[in-house]
Amino acid sequence: MNLADEFPLDPALCYLNHAAVAPWPKRTELAVNRFSHENTHWGATHYRNWLLLEKQLREQCRMLLNADDSNDIALVKNTSEGLSMVAYGLTWRAGDNVVISDEEFPSNRIVWESLRTKGVVVKEVSLKGLNPEADIIAAVDHQTRLISISSVQYASGFRLHLEILGAFCQQNAILFCVDAIQSLGALPFDVQQIHADFVIADGHKWLLGPEGLAVFYSSPTARSQLEVNEYGWHMIEHAGDYSRKTWTVAPSAQRFECGSPNMLSIHALSASLSLLLEVGIEQVHRQLDENISYLIKKLQAHPHIDIISTQQRERRAGIVTFKHRTLDSNNLYQVLMTKHVICAHRGGGIRFSPHFYTPKNVIDRAINAIP
Ligand SMILES: Cc1ncc(COP(=O)(O)O)c(C=O)c1O
Repeated sequence: MNLADEFPLDPALCYLNHAAVAPWPKRTELAVNRFSHENTHWGATHYRNWLLLEKQLREQCRMLLNADDSNDIALVKNTSEGLSMVAYGLTWRAGDNVVISDEEFPSNRIVWESLRTKGVVVKEVSLKGLNPEADIIAAVDHQTRLISISSVQYASGFRLHLEILGAFCQQNAILFCVDAIQSLGALPFDVQQIHADFVIADGHKWLLGPEGLAVFYSSPTARSQLEVNEYGWHMIEHAGDYSRKTWTVAPSAQRFECGSPNMLSIHALSASLSLLLEVGIEQVHRQLDENISYLIKKLQAHPHIDIISTQQRERRAGIVTFKHRTLDSNNLYQVLMTKHVICAHRGGGIRFSPHFYTPKNVIDRAINAIP
């Protein structure tokens, strides 16, 4: 595969913002163009093919997650929606608590805080200690119902050892929910190995897809504990048999998809995932890790930069955040963006997030753009 053909980004750009919104591969552009042409000239004449593609996307997601069954995959709007389905699907008792970290992206904090009206307590744990997994586990008590955590923190890029948390949850009958948006598509993920009950990730970051289509994994047992709060023709068993007057909620994760699917985004995301799966997620991770090592080395050599992110290999994914010793981060962000270094201002610093395909010379040019 020729990566330059697959990612024909404008050569003026140094695109280091995959932790925010990623550019699409060429094949995704072509898939969207084809789908748009088909809609314009044929309407939904070939709807059966669209359904096949939707099925293929579920299978692609299953592979990326190493889920047991594609029936455990729902396609929802975004990470926030999936998290809300968990939060508002469970039946809470006053005094129940949820354990999260104190670095979570607002989606994985606000939804739990919103349950305060039901008497639910949110416990935030610092990840700054020597053993963050042990600190999270230490915050659990007999009223903890769920641990909800990002696999990789959005600002610092800190990666958690999910298998430790998942094993603990399993042994103690606590639900384990993972916001995987900052790792799915960047490194291998295995819902079975980490004993996850729920995993959610929108498609527009490391998965290289469009915004507004997310994968929501639920294990069958965890799913059965959730009340469904959105109803329609699509989320029932025998969906499509419109003349039936009796219905039951689908046993599969399709129960979380109330109506017509987002077919346009399904075509786009499936094309993007086909690229990641073709390269192989182990290889994607190897190349990304190489890029991150290179980026860290270059930042370390810069006379005015302090790296905020951890540099420990097993604790990082695709995010490196840093500060300038003399320039305020907001000013530095403006300077970099004017020089076409596409990055983000997060966690009090500048966040660079290359992907596996990012050429080293793009990283060099970005570093050279830092005063
Ligand atoms: C950790 C994390 N969760 C969630 C989101 C976005 O959530 P959503 O898919 O609901 O837009 C982001 C986006 O930056 C994120 O970094």
